[in-house]
Amino acid sequence: MITVKLYLVMILNLYLTSEQSQSKKNFYFHKIRLHVESPETLVSGVQGSNATLPCHYRYEPALSTPRRTRVKWFWQPVSGEGQERDVMVAIGTRHRSYGDFKGRVRLRRSAPGDASLVINPLQSDDTGRYRCEIIDGLEDESVTVHLKFRGMVFPYHSSRGRYLMNFHEAKEACEKQDAHLATFEQLYASWEDGLDWCNAGWLMDGTAQYPVVLPREACGGTDLAPGVRSYGIRDKSLDRFDAFCFTSTIRGEVYFLQHHIKLNFTEALEACQSDGARIAKVGQLYAAWRFVGLDQCDAGWLADGSVRYPIIQPRMNCGTSGPGVRSLGFPPKHLKHGVYCYKVHW
Ligand SMILES: *[C@@H]1O[C@H](CO)[C@@H](O)[C@H](O)[C@H]1NC(C)=O
Ligand SMILES: *[C@@H]1O[C@H](CO)[C@@H](O)[C@H](O)[C@H]1NC(C)=O
Repeated sequence: MITVKLYLVMILNLYLTSEQSQSKKNFYFHKIRLHVESPETLVSGVQGSNATLPCHYRYEPALSTPRRTRVKWFWQPVSGEGQERDVMVAIGTRHRSYGDFKGRVRLRRSAPGDASLVINPLQSDDTGRYRCEIIDGLEDESVTVHLKFRGMVFPYHSSRGRYLMNFHEAKEACEKQDAHLATFEQLYASWEDGLDWCNAGWLMDGTAQYPVVLPREACGGTDLAPGVRSYGIRDKSLDRFDAFCFTSTIRGEVYFLQHHIKLNFTEALEACQSDGARIAKVGQLYAAWRFVGLDQCDAGWLADGSVRYPIIQPRMNCGTSGPGVRSLGFPPKHLKHGVYCYKVHW
């Protein structure tokens, strides 16, 4: 737990009476310190749910009468470029929210000095750096809280093959799988979690990189240390790679449809619909595997026409060694498999 303390020394009661000459000024001041702090500077949230970004302020010594304090929250996306944007401003009980945050944010105000920001519901673009600024008189102080989504990175390639997507196609491909292009921080965190993948994929910042845990000949050679290897910034239209997508925790349920016969792709789509659901997307299957522990040794169709299955406990006849989401690629659509469906319970 990191506590950030900021001290604002405020000079109050600065008097300069009209009778006093320039040479004889009388200053009376009390030192009042404003502390702005956050007990939690990294908050992780779940898309579609709510998040509270803590921010508290207090005076030392305590004030006998409350002061008129203004609270402002700003936001800057993770990908960093550009200016901070206004989220909300509050004075007393009046408040105003801006842009995309309109109607989704409020101050918690659970105690005096509580300026924590509640975002409900969280949208996919809300991650980034939030700054809580307390403004009192001439000076102001602030504290920063980072919001990230609990989520995971998965590699993705086009149904047509490897290394065929430019940046824009990769971004769209992730979005079609209920995911987003991963940021470098997300890929790095996944590499720390053991993601090892030999094909370079686009990241949100326009670079192409790949994570290597076990250096090997077939994967950039054994001379380099383990790590995330980068091809640097690439041409977003001309260069072609796979994608690293980031999926966050999901609200709905992914399940393998119990059906008496195996299905071709069109039948699979219809079978989920008949069950009051939809065929699951790749991002949803990964999220269910990672966050709900979905373990199913049955290959099933997914929305993009790929066939996969999630394994937590490796066992005989269930694919290779470790846990993971196994892929049979993109088989011809007339072939018969099971199907994974996705249903949202509100
Ligand atoms: C916010 O989320 C928590 C769980 O994280 C839940 O218990 C609570 O009811 C939610 N509050 C609102 C206002 O949705
Ligand atoms: C799947 O089978 C149905 C018949 O049950 C057929 O009409 C449909 O064209 C088949 N779809 C594919 C992609 O082969």
